[in-house]
Amino acid sequence: MVERETWATRVGFILAAIGSAVGLGNIWRFPFQTASSGGSAFLAVYLLAVVVIGIPALLAEFVIGRRTHLDAINAFKRLGRSQWLFVGALGIVGSFWTLSYYSVVGGWVIRYVVGSLNGNALVAPGDYFGAVSAGPEAVAFHAAFMLITVVIVALGIERGIELATKFMVPSIVVLLLGLAVFAATLPGAGQGYEFLFSFEPGAIASNASTVIPAAVGQALFSLSVGFSVMITYASYIGKDDNLFTDGVTIAVSNTFVGVLAGLVVLPLLATQTGNPGEGGPGAVFVAIPTALANLPLGRVVGVVFFLVVLIAALSSSISLLEAVTSYLVDQGLSRVPTAAGLGAIIFLLGVPSAWDTAWLSWFDGIAVALFLPITVLLVVVFVGWVMGRDAMDELRQGMGSDGIAPLWLWALRTVVLLAVIGVVALNLYDLFLTPEKGVYIVPPL
Ligand code: ALA
Repeated sequence: MVERETWATRVGFILAAIGSAVGLGNIWRFPFQTASSGGSAFLAVYLLAVVVIGIPALLAEFVIGRRTHLDAINAFKRLGRSQWLFVGALGIVGSFWTLSYYSVVGGWVIRYVVGSLNGNALVAPGDYFGAVSAGPEAVAFHAAFMLITVVIVALGIERGIELATKFMVPSIVVLLLGLAVFAATLPGAGQGYEFLFSFEPGAIASNASTVIPAAVGQALFSLSVGFSVMITYASYIGKDDNLFTDGVTIAVSNTFVGVLAGLVVLPLLATQTGNPGEGGPGAVFVAIPTALANLPLGRVVGVVFFLVVLIAALSSSISLLEAVTSYLVDQGLSRVPTAAGLGAIIFLLGVPSAWDTAWLSWFDGIAVALFLPITVLLVVVFVGWVMGRDAMDELRQGMGSDGIAPLWLWALRTVVLLAVIGVVALNLYDLFLTPEKGVYIVPPL
């Protein structure tokens, strides 16, 4: 029996988890979701969702992983609750599903690094996006992104994921800080900031049924909660870590990068359109190159920007692939062929999204509105009510103070549970009863 891998250091684990959290969710999804869901209103609900649902749920996944030191399916068996292993499996399926289209967007990003370098992406940005976002080229770059993901995962926990994220996460922060300073000098900076930070409670009240599920979905997606990823990553740590501190560090870092990305993207959007709310899902890929085309050093900034997005996307995609790989490796399969085989299947699942962006939106909608909230709901019920005091004891291990763990368990059983039930109910209502508001559950055939 081959010994199970572990993180070499605690910092390695924390950076890998931050790497998983920080991704396309922060840089591609967050700004356009913020822009299209009312700016500050969305940001406020998002921040609340991170605290009320995101962090407690993140800790719940950590507890399952560290308690069992097993992948997200076998973990439930080891806890003596085999009837609940479908919860881990659902998260893994969510990872599999999400990675299929995530990798397509990752492929676009590779294309944009090249396109910024040779200047092609900046000439007629709308046409360029149309040409590279769907069809054979998108399939080819989706394959390239998937290949890089597979190589890192195939190298293993310590030599692959830990080593890669140790370089990736600091690079993302440093480069984004540089870009934010640059963005502050743009004429649209003030308007962009105002859009992000002017708090308007009225905007939340009048759009609550749309803003709340969108912001909660974004919080879960962004923290990588509900993908079984954090169960898997925590399964590679030792007993001595303080999970609470780790969880808060990860959530704060992730939010910091999200806001930092907003400080880069929104001034650029405001400079270009005059209204940062108009960007839409193509914001990063159309509006940013348009804005950059008119700026001195636009190409250089473009290369740096898309390089950051690429690094962030990869540090997340490896975690999504690891959640799936870990299960098969724990079953005794060897890592390299497993990662390669899974990568090939996920690539095939992503081909429709690479061929037509309508499929990509559909996959994204199902992931964020169904897979994530439902998995999180089940994790919260399991850890809060089924593991109960055992979960609390596990969180206590390695913690200095005693008060947090009981508070966490209480919150999980009450506030968090009710909040997630509310979100799942709203999403199901939108999906099945008002399809014009939610994503269509019928695929775009
Ligand atoms: N947490 C990852 C992201 O935000 C999936 O992109």
